[in-house]
Amino acid sequence: MCGIFGYVGKKTNAAGMILEGLRLLEYRGYDSWGIATKVKSQNAKVKSFLAVEKHVGKIGDAKVDLPQSALGIGHTRWATHGGVTQENSHPHLDCTKNIAVVHNGIIENYQELKEVLLKKGHSFLSETDTEVFPHLIEEYLASKGETLQGKGFTEAFRLAFNQIKGLNAIVAINADTNEIAAAKTGSPLIIGVSENEFYVASDAIGILKHTNKIVFLEDNQMVMLGKKLRLTKLPEGEELEPAVNTLDWKFEDAIKGRFEHFLLKEIHEQPQVISNIALNYSDQTKKLAKLIKESYGTFLLGCGTASYAGLFGTYLFSSIAKRHVNFSIGSEFNYLENYLTPKSLVIPISQSGETIDIVEPVNRAKQKGSKVASLVNVLGSTLYRQSDFKVLLGAGSEKAVIGTKSFTAMISVLFLTAYTLVKKQKEAKNLLLSAAKNVEEILKEDYTKNIKKLALEFKNKEHIYILGRGLSYATALEATLKIKETTYVHAEGFAGGELKHGVIALIEKGTPVFIIAPNDETFDDIISNAQEVKARGGFIIGIGPRKSDVFDRFLQTRDITEATIIPQVVISQLFAYYLALSRGIKDPDKPRNLAKSVTVK
Ligand code: F6R
Repeated sequence: MCGIFGYVGKKTNAAGMILEGLRLLEYRGYDSWGIATKVKSQNAKVKSFLAVEKHVGKIGDAKVDLPQSALGIGHTRWATHGGVTQENSHPHLDCTKNIAVVHNGIIENYQELKEVLLKKGHSFLSETDTEVFPHLIEEYLASKGETLQGKGFTEAFRLAFNQIKGLNAIVAINADTNEIAAAKTGSPLIIGVSENEFYVASDAIGILKHTNKIVFLEDNQMVMLGKKLRLTKLPEGEELEPAVNTLDWKFEDAIKGRFEHFLLKEIHEQPQVISNIALNYSDQTKKLAKLIKESYGTFLLGCGTASYAGLFGTYLFSSIAKRHVNFSIGSEFNYLENYLTPKSLVIPISQSGETIDIVEPVNRAKQKGSKVASLVNVLGSTLYRQSDFKVLLGAGSEKAVIGTKSFTAMISVLFLTAYTLVKKQKEAKNLLLSAAKNVEEILKEDYTKNIKKLALEFKNKEHIYILGRGLSYATALEATLKIKETTYVHAEGFAGGELKHGVIALIEKGTPVFIIAPNDETFDDIISNAQEVKARGGFIIGIGPRKSDVFDRFLQTRDITEATIIPQVVISQLFAYYLALSRGIKDPDKPRNLAKSVTVK
């Protein structure tokens, strides 16, 4: 979380370039943003100073009002420590206002560091953990009687970084030298190398517009960017030879086109994403199936929406391939990893490839010698680079914070892989193509008008429940997450069998309960659950191929065996989107409190 962008070189519109870079990184956080640049002073006594601008809210069409400069850093924030205020937004400065710092991560020991710094007379303007860092640099320089010139800044930055705990990426500039200092542990930082200039950013997307020569900063590495790039190893600062990669990655910067929101556009892109996987992923899924076959213990990992893809995978591998494939939420895997051996296969699933709760357990799995085969959407992301084998999901740039097409891509790849394991790849391809066709039908106005009507009908409801069994349990969980994050309505998904173990107490007259009912072995049981809900006044909406008398409303899909999950999920995405609009939510692409890439624990 939080996006960082910095520039040092010959161009004099640093602030404009940084703003443009931050706009591309806004998916990492969008509650506030700020930029600091080094500016030549008109005052004969002071050569240069740092000009700073900070704003609360999304960047949108904002412009910056900073003087010409060839050195600067910027930040778009997702708050961890301290509320969403101008004071808490980055960059943060030291007491002299000569050092500016931007940060992604959490300085876990900031409180003790702050106490010491306060005792030494430093004053703090924000509630953030970040603010200790510029003061640590300042304190080091003061205590040694050094200045920012020469080795001063480099050494002070290195020693300050060595003092902090946690998973962090920190970038700093100062008013006296033409240098950027950067270091990381955990959170990503990427360096762009061009003629007489350097870029630093949280991900390659912001940099590739300027240069395709990239250095991926590794954990516990520090870099000084000025006239040259100087890479060192922390904590001691031994020189390292930087590996400059020439990338041929192309990132499209998606546009909304005819759609009002990216969310709706991305929902509409799903038939194409699913068909692409059906038609072009034969070799990749064969390789993945082989790795699963050869492994002794396979673990699917994911967070949020990707975790529901993983859960779906567990059911799917069991029903199609008769294989036990384990599943864990990424953040819980640390407590389960004791099972891992060099024979294990870990399959992390992630749209961004930057989720810390995936990146960290994958690192640990690698330390244990396990193989990592990832399903990842973002080319060049940390997970992409960590993996021994990767299947790129091919969903294209997903701009809306709410995952839609990345989820259908994840389950399509898992679907094809499970069938491939039992040599039925052709059957799976045809089923996926039928799913893509069905989604096309659902996206037509003739169909969506029913979903819109339902969204209006339920616009004042405070609770929505969704029940499913077997594979559809994962569908129920994913559908409720879409509703929660898009509409802020309380929604819960349950396994139908859990109803009588407590959940049924929540049902009142008129409570909307969606029933995910594919035409499989769960049908009779989930319909019985629907009857039990209806007997207590619940209002039942069935989603699936088979109608039942218990349904008060029915949203029909084709019957495409296990792939029925695809049209069912798309219906829930559309319902969430239209419910958000009917509740007056203006920007469903960027729901409150969320970020597209979750890089803090
Ligand atoms: C919800 C959503 C999130 C992500 C989760 C993992 O719509 O998008 O729950 O699925 O934060 O993100 P990735 O897939 O980037 O690892």
